[in-house]
Amino acid sequence: MYFCRMNKLVLIGTGNVAMHLFRALRECQDLEVIQVVGRDPAARAYFGSYTDTAALPEISQQGDLYLMAVSDDTIATVSRNLPLEGKLLVHTSGSVPLEALTERCRRGVFYPLQTFSKNRHLSLREVPLCLEAEDSQDLVQLQRIANRLSDRVYQIGSEQRRQLHLAAVFANNFTNHLYYLSQQILEGASLPFDMLLPLIGETAAKLQDVSPHEAQTGPARRADEGTIAAHRQLLKDATQKDVYTLLSNSIKQTYGKKL
Ligand SMILES: NC(=O)c1ccc[n+]([C@@H]2O[C@H](COP(=O)([O-])OP(=O)(O)OC[C@H]3O[C@@H](n4cnc5c(N)ncnc54)[C@H](OP(=O)(O)O)[C@@H]3O)[C@@H](O)[C@H]2O)c1
Repeated sequence: MYFCRMNKLVLIGTGNVAMHLFRALRECQDLEVIQVVGRDPAARAYFGSYTDTAALPEISQQGDLYLMAVSDDTIATVSRNLPLEGKLLVHTSGSVPLEALTERCRRGVFYPLQTFSKNRHLSLREVPLCLEAEDSQDLVQLQRIANRLSDRVYQIGSEQRRQLHLAAVFANNFTNHLYYLSQQILEGASLPFDMLLPLIGETAAKLQDVSPHEAQTGPARRADEGTIAAHRQLLKDATQKDVYTLLSNSIKQTYGKKL
């Protein structure tokens, strides 16, 4: 069967993910971002140097695929207000179901599993792209485009994607917050945060070779109660103390030590 090729893309949103997708798509010669739409003219300015830009009501009708990278809470409303009929519209969220998108469009999901900030450059090649589509032919087209961007393309339903996003919050958002708490502790001792960078690097790197369960070290893993008590005494901030206790207990529980 002949599938029409979807080469004209419209990006909706001008934030972190839109920026990264835009940069990656510009590298693909057979794909063209014909327009970037967003509500903020200042945020559209960067994209305007390379392609057409517009406010949301002026969205182009010429796109084959509409990639919507807007905040989770606004996906439903923004999609409902887009003057699009029968177009393939996908969002990029890990936690929002496909059904949040307007029924007036053919719906899908294009979720990149990575942490993106506008000012950080990274290749999408190693980034898992998690795809979902209501229509099987649309899924084929999303796969074709995703394969141009990444070597790790997955077809994942909304429920699995929710679990994946939850796991990513633990692996990324929570560990990053722990780095922040570490920084606070170091600042209290007039020590620079970058002293921890080799340790942080090796903690992540060794997961290429061993499972997180095998990789665990530290006082809670060894059940060194004296060290744990001393650390708890050092912590003056109540929240830091709670986090330390909660995580130590979780580690002790995992390795079968008595609480
Ligand atoms: N950042 C990540 O690491 C990451 C990774 C994977 C997936 N995602 C998903 O990708 C999506 C975008 O995330 P992001 O990090 O790119 O967010 P972001 O940088 O905060 O950008 C959000 C975009 O949504 C627009 N927006 C917000 N409310 C709007 C409204 N009511 N009407 C029109 N536009 C509106 C913003 O416009 P203004 O600038 O005018 O506010 C901005 O262009 C989210 O679904 C997120 O879950 C993010």
